[in-house]
Amino acid sequence: MKLLILLLLSILGLVVTAQDTTTTTTTNKQQNGLVIQTGAQGYTYHGCYTETTNIANTTGKRALDGGINSVQPDNMTVQKCWEFCGGKGSSGQTYKFAGLEYARECWCAQSLSGLSSKVADSECDLPCDGNSTQACGGNLKLTVYIASAAANLAARFSFVASLGVIGVMVFGSVFE
Ligand SMILES: *[C@@H]1O[C@H](CO)[C@@H](O)[C@H](O)[C@H]1NC(C)=O
Ligand SMILES: *[C@@H]1O[C@H](CO)[C@@H](O)[C@H](O)[C@H]1NC(C)=O
Ligand SMILES: *[C@@H]1O[C@H](CO)[C@@H](O)[C@H](O)[C@H]1NC(C)=O
Repeated sequence: MKLLILLLLSILGLVVTAQDTTTTTTTNKQQNGLVIQTGAQGYTYHGCYTETTNIANTTGKRALDGGINSVQPDNMTVQKCWEFCGGKGSSGQTYKFAGLEYARECWCAQSLSGLSSKVADSECDLPCDGNSTQACGGNLKLTVYIASAAANLAARFSFVASLGVIGVMVFGSVFE
């Protein structure tokens, strides 16, 4: 009986995990007449965030610091930034965060500064230089994307961990 419960829990776990991977949102949001790409190429929309260079004690440090960046006047698009931060950039590394700023800048980093705050999507109001229908941040504002794998992994880890706890509890009671 106990083993049956454990088996059922495992099957449930597999089913939920499988569904988890297929439910990706594909609807893009509209803001200021601009399209906020919900995500693709391994990145998911994280929000509009403030740049930190003008905060007193950061000594000019960026919200997305320590990685690589690309400035492409006339040519920047959301897709180009995803590719650049997703392994096709100068370092060949894949970054957890990709942020577009000031219509033409792409910033890649492994962490987002705690001093950066999330603001309304409408504050990222500049069209991308390379595609005027897309949102590419704003003046000292970043349209930030997070690597989907990182976001999914965190969710899956907590789910698997809770399954593990249930499993241990069931096993424990078998050998009581
Ligand atoms: C900056 O640092 C100084 C000295 O530590 C502190 O007095 C001040 O409150 C800080 N300002 C901000 C905006 O955090
Ligand atoms: C934009 O891209 C085109 C085509 O790749 C290139 O010829 C042009 O030099 C680029 N412009 C800038 C400012 O980088
Ligand atoms: C420009 O962006 C729109 C909206 O995201 C997209 O549908 C379109 O394919 C893009 N155009 C080009 C040339 O990339």
